[in-house]
Amino acid sequence: MNKIVHPSLKVKVHNRDGYFYTHKDLVTDHIKIWEPLLAHLIGKPCDILEIGSLQGNSAVYWLNNILTHDESSIMCIEPFGRTKRVPDRELFMENIKKTGYSNKVHLLEMTSDNFFIKNKLGTWDVIYIDGSHEAEQVSKDCANSLRLCKKGGIIIMDDYKMRPYFADDNIGPRPAIDEFLLHNEDKLEILHKGYQVIVKRITT
Ligand SMILES: C[S@@+](CC[C@H](N)C(=O)[O-])C[C@H]1O[C@@H](n2cnc3c(N)ncnc32)[C@H](O)[C@@H]1O
Repeated sequence: MNKIVHPSLKVKVHNRDGYFYTHKDLVTDHIKIWEPLLAHLIGKPCDILEIGSLQGNSAVYWLNNILTHDESSIMCIEPFGRTKRVPDRELFMENIKKTGYSNKVHLLEMTSDNFFIKNKLGTWDVIYIDGSHEAEQVSKDCANSLRLCKKGGIIIMDDYKMRPYFADDNIGPRPAIDEFLLHNEDKLEILHKGYQVIVKRITT
């Protein structure tokens, strides 16, 4: 798809349904997997924790499709440190504003480690792990997310099949996720294993 020049930020962006992103679509391929697994949450109070929000692509999807109840919310953990050349923060803010649901969004500009240090308890319905792709960090994010996920809640781990070449440390999320699944097999039901891994927490 051709890019246009953003009217005020002067960077080239894709216009996808009126939302502007400098990057490719990160959501559409997953929707057919997500929809049946998350359908029970639509229209009910639901809280999503998202680790890694970038320009808001996935957050916009959650807001428009899953978090439809007035009391639903999303907490976005995003340090915005990627690069100075791309205005990730500005695009995130603009895209969230366009949804009309800014009131449901709590943005914490910090790393997941800093978030988890300060937040020991949690009852999240869905946790989307899409932050660092470094194996060691993915390992920590998975373990911490399990701690904060409610019984019956869902954890989505992205980039399980990402080629290590593209991962931050040339190892990537896969071994970390495999170890997490093995170590917690009594606590988890695997709902999907493909490019992403999706699990349900089955114990308190
Ligand atoms: C693949 S992008 C997220 C894409 C987003 N979920 C979407 O679909 O639109 C990964 C993001 O994780 C963020 N990130 C990297 N390390 C992180 C960490 N330790 N904690 C939280 N976020 C992190 C990066 O700044 C980047 O914006």
